[in-house]
Amino acid sequence: MEVIILPSPAAASQEAARIFEKQIQQKPTSVLGLATGSTPLGTYRELVERHRSGAIDFSRVTTFNLDEYVGLPGTHPQSYRAFMDLNLFSQINAHPGRTHVPNGMAVDIPTHCAEYEDAIRRAGGIDVQLLGIGSDGHIGFNEPSSSLSSRTRLKTLTPQTIADNARFFGSADDVPRHVITMGVGTIMEATHVVVLAIGQGKASAVAAMVEGPITADVPASILQMHRKCTLILDEPAAQSLKRQTYYRWVYDHKPQWQRI
Ligand code: PGA
Repeated sequence: MEVIILPSPAAASQEAARIFEKQIQQKPTSVLGLATGSTPLGTYRELVERHRSGAIDFSRVTTFNLDEYVGLPGTHPQSYRAFMDLNLFSQINAHPGRTHVPNGMAVDIPTHCAEYEDAIRRAGGIDVQLLGIGSDGHIGFNEPSSSLSSRTRLKTLTPQTIADNARFFGSADDVPRHVITMGVGTIMEATHVVVLAIGQGKASAVAAMVEGPITADVPASILQMHRKCTLILDEPAAQSLKRQTYYRWVYDHKPQWQRI
């Protein structure tokens, strides 16, 4: 795992956006895995800027989002479909038919989940997957105890995640209890996984992910087994890492040809 510690949330978001920019420039038909929440907002602003300046053409890109709340239609302001439309899709030239978010109103959820997996496979698999990390160590909505080889399916949120996300809904009571999320196994099949974590609230989850044992108790820890995982942090999110000095040393000594 490559651990990149940067001085500010803006620098971290720019680094993540640079990876996506390079990916799309090298492969205009890239398949992107996208995330929601507070963390990716800066990255999406950067991507919109880069699109406006002519650096990124999204017209041939396909996207798959990680997750969606069960029971919220895409028109609900707190649905992840609405989040993506507002913060990214409406501001870039991605083809609407190629932006995928699980359908929180699906009547037959297991069939919908199997179809979502099929759609990812038919698109050729995910080239780069953007991830945040929950304060409980979740990725997507794969809460602690999720199978590390799970596929897209229904999950029940933990009280911790409901409390974390209550800020978007006004109160914890309004946060749906169930979600559809790509599985840990689905995420692990992406060619490149980019995890972004910002702020002190993520420091202990980040330390457990990078330096703790691989365990379903911290689903993000399975990324220690991923062949190409880049973890981008601001200083507060990195503060509990034991090997911070080494990670900075590695980054400072990165060969020129490996730099974005
Ligand atoms: P956040 O969520 O970006 O809103 O902190 C991250 C996550 O839960 O994966």
